[in-house]
Amino acid sequence: MVKDLLYGKKIVLGVTGCIAAYKSAYLIRDLVKRGAEVKVVMSPSATQFIAPLTLSTLSKNAVVVNIFPDTKNHNTNLNTWHIDLAQWSDLILIAPATVNTVAKIAYGFADNALTTLAAAARSTVVLAPAADVDMYENPATKENLAKLESLGYFIVEAEEGELASGLSGKGRLAELDKIIDSVELVLSGFEKDLKGKKILVTAGPTIEDIDPVRFIANRSSGKMGYALAKAAFLRGADVTLISGTSSEIAYQEINKLNVRSADEMKKAVDKELKKNDFLIMSAAVADYKPVKVSSKKMKKEKNLTEIKITKTTDILSSIKKENKIIVGFALETDNEIANAKKKLKEKQLDMIVLNSLKDKRSGFEFETNKVTLIKKSGKTIKLPLQSKFQIANKILDQLF
Ligand code: CTP
Repeated sequence: MVKDLLYGKKIVLGVTGCIAAYKSAYLIRDLVKRGAEVKVVMSPSATQFIAPLTLSTLSKNAVVVNIFPDTKNHNTNLNTWHIDLAQWSDLILIAPATVNTVAKIAYGFADNALTTLAAAARSTVVLAPAADVDMYENPATKENLAKLESLGYFIVEAEEGELASGLSGKGRLAELDKIIDSVELVLSGFEKDLKGKKILVTAGPTIEDIDPVRFIANRSSGKMGYALAKAAFLRGADVTLISGTSSEIAYQEINKLNVRSADEMKKAVDKELKKNDFLIMSAAVADYKPVKVSSKKMKKEKNLTEIKITKTTDILSSIKKENKIIVGFALETDNEIANAKKKLKEKQLDMIVLNSLKDKRSGFEFETNKVTLIKKSGKTIKLPLQSKFQIANKILDQLF
């Protein structure tokens, strides 16, 4: 079993007063499910949107709302709670963060329990802002968020969509999965170090039609490619994802292009590569396709016993590689290292990621994988079994 990166991690969740505050209940549930210990600090206005009792029940810890201890009951031993909590936490997540809280933290205000904690923070603070579109797009908010980012806060930007006001635009709290991926990213020691990089990723299988009903495909789920696209995006890169059929979901900001066949994927790669500096070809492109695609369903009574197939174009071998960093994948069952090195050389790659189907809990459909990275220089890095998201980050580390 691979230990979840969030297991045993101490997270303070700060909740502020906006309609998305109800989503903090789901955030706690998901963080706790993954083994994190969560303590909640709410701004007074957050309690208008969700009851502290809900969050204390889900987190199994008392919720802090008041900045001062309850002296009426002579409970005065809590007077440095903000320092204690700041020292206790591995990470502070403020989600949702209102524009008011964002502004206060940007200017060092400490006028309620949460802003006081933020001022005392020792660990990274991840901020997921949410507001109505005009408040979010307000230049003052933009400036405050940019300032916080330059101060080392990790910002998970709001998303576009329908807002509680009925307006539509940027301001929705980021999807919870993206917030939790950001928490994992930060706890793993990664930051937005890929800003300005343009990365093209391919993912999933290609499907080669035989007739309107049947096709040739493979078992690729797309999980590794999607993990690469997400990790690259969270680290600040501009990401384009060319995806074969997959049930994985990409973040809203990832420029996703859906393709079906190897031919379609080749066309898309040729077009998009011009705009990108890096290509990570994790798709399981079919090597063969039927010579002819029947426009009508092939009937059994025709006693068909063979389908004529022909090779697809090898995308990696055919692309123009000048001034690009190209990473390929190799899926091998025998002579793994030798075969991967052969592919690295023949396809003129900068690095190849060797996937072995021999390892338990790695390969198709699993959330985990065990890979070996082989670089053009000959440097070989054997990575232990870990989540595809963690592997994605290790691959990205080797690109620069
Ligand atoms: N690839 C490609 N175009 C193809 C087939 C594969 O660009 N038509 C890429 C894959 O995306 C991967 C790399 O080539 O990055 C290696 O793919 P793999 O299936 O391991 O190897 P093949 O070259 O197809 O050879 P074989 O199947 O015989 O091992």
